[in-house]
Amino acid sequence: MKILVTGCAGFIGSHLTARLLKEGHEVIGVDNFDIYYSRSQKEKNLMPMLLHPKFKLEEDNLATMAFVKVLKGTEVVIHLAGQPGVRGSWGASFNRYLTNNIQVTQRLLEESKGNKLKRFIYASSSSVYGDVGIAEGGETQVLSEEMKVQPKSPYGVTKLAAEHLCQLYNVEYKMPTVCLRFFSVYGPGQRPDMAFHRFCQSILREAALSIYGDGKQVRDFTYVDDVVDVIHAAITADVAGQVVNVGGGSPCTLLEAVTLLEEISGTTCAKTFLDRQKGDVISTRADTTKLEKLFGFKPKVSLREGLSREWEWMKKFVQSEDDETAIKANVQPIIGVDHEAIAQVKADEKESKKVAKKAKSQAAKKEPSADASMASAQPNLVARHEASQQAQAELSAAPSESTESNG
Ligand code: NAD
Ligand code: UGA
Repeated sequence: MKILVTGCAGFIGSHLTARLLKEGHEVIGVDNFDIYYSRSQKEKNLMPMLLHPKFKLEEDNLATMAFVKVLKGTEVVIHLAGQPGVRGSWGASFNRYLTNNIQVTQRLLEESKGNKLKRFIYASSSSVYGDVGIAEGGETQVLSEEMKVQPKSPYGVTKLAAEHLCQLYNVEYKMPTVCLRFFSVYGPGQRPDMAFHRFCQSILREAALSIYGDGKQVRDFTYVDDVVDVIHAAITADVAGQVVNVGGGSPCTLLEAVTLLEEISGTTCAKTFLDRQKGDVISTRADTTKLEKLFGFKPKVSLREGLSREWEWMKKFVQSEDDETAIKANVQPIIGVDHEAIAQVKADEKESKKVAKKAKSQAAKKEPSADASMASAQPNLVARHEASQQAQAELSAAPSESTESNG
């Protein structure tokens, strides 16, 4: 199937893209590498897919781009692009939430309503519920799709508005929309504003963990592969018009999750308790009855397993960030560099660009080869990645002048 994935360079989007390609689908990914967090993390997310013959990246802004090209022949739209983050959605930044969550979703629905899609999947959020699960005595209930929703953050308001838009287009235009409400997703590649990413980062940098509130807030942490499994199943399952919770199935308090992370990392962490953040809900526990009924799905990855995988990924990620910082700082000239090898890499690069250009011009006469169209569409990312790999290899292979003179 030909599938459009918006937000393909993001945390969930990149895992999903990898999975769809593995399943043999053709994927058009749209992402504008929004500045909410580093472009470099998103490039790393996408790098393994960039040269895949069935993947095409369109770097563009969904708020302004023309959709004709990406919607042509598309059978399924999976709309993950958006402005995430609960706590940052107050104040002036609300504009970003308005544009990237509401307006972009409306545009995409409007533009694709005539396309006879097989499915339009929208990434909704547990944030639409707010604190509706908290009973009078403070007891927490599971959150079910039938409950009245009452977002507690501007972010949640925008996610709910976009959900409503999807349902409107389902009713009025018979678009086969489904809204999946994800619950605090985690795993390798997690966004840097999210709790586990920040906690792992603090441990690795030997800093105290910042805990908002008393740490007793409950989250139904959901491993990213489980989320991807559900999205994948939603392409073909009979779920048009539905709203479905996607929760991890083993909710716990934030402090319980921290204890688990301490065990995994073999560290006892210092903790700084800060004020509760506006917009943060007390508890999210997903009722997954509907998820199980519609998809026959139960989450597979336990918090211990998922957190271990994120920890392992974070160790490498932090190391690569440090390497990049060192390269950018360019403190000392590097000696012992194999200039011949670099010249060869550059020559190869030039040659491959030439081949891509030639293939592109041939494409006017016949169907372009997937490799050629990839190379012409994504030369910058590929070249930049290769150059950075080369630079990193050089840096670790060659001692700098200062190291030598100090040693
Ligand atoms: P992410 O920020 O990593 O990914 C979103 C991607 O969308 C980014 O790569 C960004 O560059 C892109 N994007 C944003 N605005 C765009 C625009 N106007 N045009 C093109 N691209 C744009 O976030 P994520 O954690 O992967 O979340 C993906 C989706 O799932 C979001 O819609 C989020 O609200 C929703 N969600 C996430 C979670 C979670 O725990 N991560 C939970 C519930 C819902
Ligand atoms: C997450 C995502 O960030 C949202 O995009 C998503 O929509 C939402 O899940 C959802 O489930 O709908 P959140 O639950 O706040 O939001 O996830 P985290 O950012 O991982 O935070 C979890 C808890 O840890 C929150 O209570 C937060 O206040 C706390 N936290 C976070 C800290 O105590 N310290 C930190 O440094 C970061």
